[in-house]
Amino acid sequence: MYYESKIWLALFLLFVANYNQNYVHGESKVPCVFIFGDSLSDSGNNNNLATNAKSNFKPYGIDFPAGPTGRFTNGRTTIDIITQILGFENFIPPFANTSGSDILKGVNYAAGAAGIREETGRNRGAHISLGLQLENHRVIVTQIASKLGGIKKAKEYLSKCLYYVNIGSNDYLNNYFLPEYYSTSTIYTPNQYAEALIQELTLNLQGLQDVGARKYVLAGLGSLGCIPLRISNGSCFEPLNSASLIFSEKLKSLVDHLNNKTSSNSKFIFLNSTTNAVIDAKGFTVTTDACCASGLYGECIRDRRPCANRREYVFWDENHTTDAWNIVTATVFYNSSYPDSTYPMNIKQFVEQDIKMESEFIKEFISEPGRLYADE
Ligand SMILES: *[C@@H]1O[C@H](CO)[C@@H](O)[C@H](O)[C@H]1NC(C)=O
Ligand SMILES: *[C@@H]1O[C@H](CO)[C@@H](O)[C@H](O)[C@H]1NC(C)=O
Ligand SMILES: *[C@@H]1O[C@H](CO)[C@@H](O)[C@H](O)[C@H]1NC(C)=O
Ligand SMILES: *[C@@H]1O[C@H](CO)[C@@H](O)[C@H](O)[C@H]1NC(C)=O
Ligand SMILES: *[C@@H]1O[C@H](CO)[C@@H](O)[C@H](O)[C@H]1NC(C)=O
Ligand SMILES: *[C@@H]1O[C@H](CO)[C@@H](O)[C@H](O)[C@H]1NC(C)=O
Repeated sequence: MYYESKIWLALFLLFVANYNQNYVHGESKVPCVFIFGDSLSDSGNNNNLATNAKSNFKPYGIDFPAGPTGRFTNGRTTIDIITQILGFENFIPPFANTSGSDILKGVNYAAGAAGIREETGRNRGAHISLGLQLENHRVIVTQIASKLGGIKKAKEYLSKCLYYVNIGSNDYLNNYFLPEYYSTSTIYTPNQYAEALIQELTLNLQGLQDVGARKYVLAGLGSLGCIPLRISNGSCFEPLNSASLIFSEKLKSLVDHLNNKTSSNSKFIFLNSTTNAVIDAKGFTVTTDACCASGLYGECIRDRRPCANRREYVFWDENHTTDAWNIVTATVFYNSSYPDSTYPMNIKQFVEQDIKMESEFIKEFISEPGRLYADE
């Protein structure tokens, strides 16, 4: 009994030390974030790629400390802001340039024009599909394994990270709704197409799980028919909105389905990009026009001066939102109590739930230490 108590005490102290290190004195609420997606999250992965989906020139980055970086907005992306709220001092580095960065804190694989389907974005040139992003992640996992002393230790570490996946817009914008380049709309109904995308996404999530991922944040699609590029005569393009809503609904069900699987200890949350909590934001006077002058694909024209009152614009270019709007979105995703915004909980609750579970464990142990090994 005495011996057992000592083991428990040792475990307990070890646990408290670890707990303090991670959450009390630690700088960020999670040790690492890995980012998968498209131009909504890209931070420079397309810069040296043979594609015309690029943004490493002015006026992109005009409000970003480092200037143009390959982010498709004037300042920060939504996930940039979320990582700041989580307490990260530096932005998560793009896979294309991790030199000088601590990959243990995470890597950003997201790339403009990319989709879940391999062919998506081909019309813009070379592209880094979700499958390729996963392959890039495996390269990083190997590097992490050699830093931490083996794949087992790496996986244990990687199970604590957040995996943010925000992809699918281009499977509509640069695939299904571009019949001149792609045949998907003749093969699938919108419902079948969304189903096929969800299946392929699920396989990739499985692949992520195989290399340690356990905590997933999956973002639904925005109102794609309401980006300035698709608005005509003041009206949104409804077929695009309804097709992408089907995808988002299926994604939300997938979250439910995967959370209910008792066999896996993975956890998932869904972010609703069309939530009213975001739509009701105040202070945005221009909601249907881009702040910068637009080129062929809705991108800003190089070196052309953008609007001055960017804080009042929802859209920076014809298909990407401003830093000001991304702050609203990030804040809602992180901390909204609006039931429609995040499901089944917000990011704050998601990253804090382990801390809560662990501190309840401590409380229980302190109040009734015998109970935990009473059966032995
Ligand atoms: C790569 O990242 C480092 C550190 O963030 C930065 O100083 C450097 O300019 C980047 N290199 C390229 C080619 O973007
Ligand atoms: C939106 O802009 C990005 C970056 O230029 C591009 O990858 C994407 O294809 C654009 N969307 C559409 C509908 O063309
Ligand atoms: C826009 O409205 C005008 C006038 O009502 C109409 O002639 C035109 O066809 C409309 N364009 C589109 C793309 O719906
Ligand atoms: C998952 O569990 C929740 C809560 O118990 C339930 O409401 C939901 O219907 C289940 N969903 C699936 C897909 O099994
Ligand atoms: C997202 O929120 C909007 C508005 O609150 C709602 O109409 C829509 O159904 C939600 N989307 C999903 C996939 O739950
Ligand atoms: C989250 O919401 C609560 C209650 O609305 C608020 O007190 C808190 O400051 C918010 N935290 C962040 C980081 O936005």
